[in-house]
Amino acid sequence: MSDIVLRAATAADAEAIDGVIRSAFAATEFGHQGEAELVRMIDADGDVMVSLVAERDNAIVGHVLFSRMDVEADGAAETAAGLAPVSVAPDRQGQGIGDALIRAGLDALRGQGVRISFVLGHEGYYPRFGYSPDLAARFASPFAGPHFMAMMLDSGADWPQGGRADYAPAFGRLG
Ligand SMILES: CC(C)(COP(=O)(O)OP(=O)(O)OC[C@H]1O[C@@H](n2cnc3c(N)ncnc32)[C@H](O)[C@@H]1OP(=O)(O)O)[C@@H](O)C(=O)NCCC(=O)NCCS
Repeated sequence: MSDIVLRAATAADAEAIDGVIRSAFAATEFGHQGEAELVRMIDADGDVMVSLVAERDNAIVGHVLFSRMDVEADGAAETAAGLAPVSVAPDRQGQGIGDALIRAGLDALRGQGVRISFVLGHEGYYPRFGYSPDLAARFASPFAGPHFMAMMLDSGADWPQGGRADYAPAFGRLG
């Protein structure tokens, strides 16, 4: 990790980010299912909240995106960010890069005053950052289920009793 630099993504990174996302997801059991296009659409819609890259020797080896969500908690609108996707180049996985990207992204969201984050993913991975299926289960969502997790970005904040959570519109346009 000592040779890895994390920084905010810029427009000039778009193609390299595409490449990392495609290679990371192509290596999974599900394959690439449009995650690179999703990132482009979220960006075009102006719904990016945090986009970070991990660089090694000036080459991008990882990326994480958090996008604006439409969330209501206990009857009031809540600032919220969805984590998706996170990608690390296959030959650099398992070295803590994904972990560092997610933690830096959560810190950046805290800096923006975002209150809650959601993720749809593996329940063996995301709880280490503070994501909980029990918190997400309080929110009505088309993605409700064991893989749907949420965390209060201030870990001392009370959990809302209930609400609704919708991802950015680009997610609804995924083919
Ligand atoms: C998921 C991903 C971003 C993690 O990044 P990484 O740099 O490899 O992860 P780290 O080195 O920080 O952490 C490694 C841990 O993640 C776990 N892990 C990695 N991929 C995982 C997956 N798909 N499901 C569950 N756990 C996973 C490893 O088992 C390891 O766990 P351990 O610490 O208990 O041993 C990366 O593996 C990746 O790009 N995967 C393909 C794309 C993907 O599935 N993205 C997530 C869905 S949005």
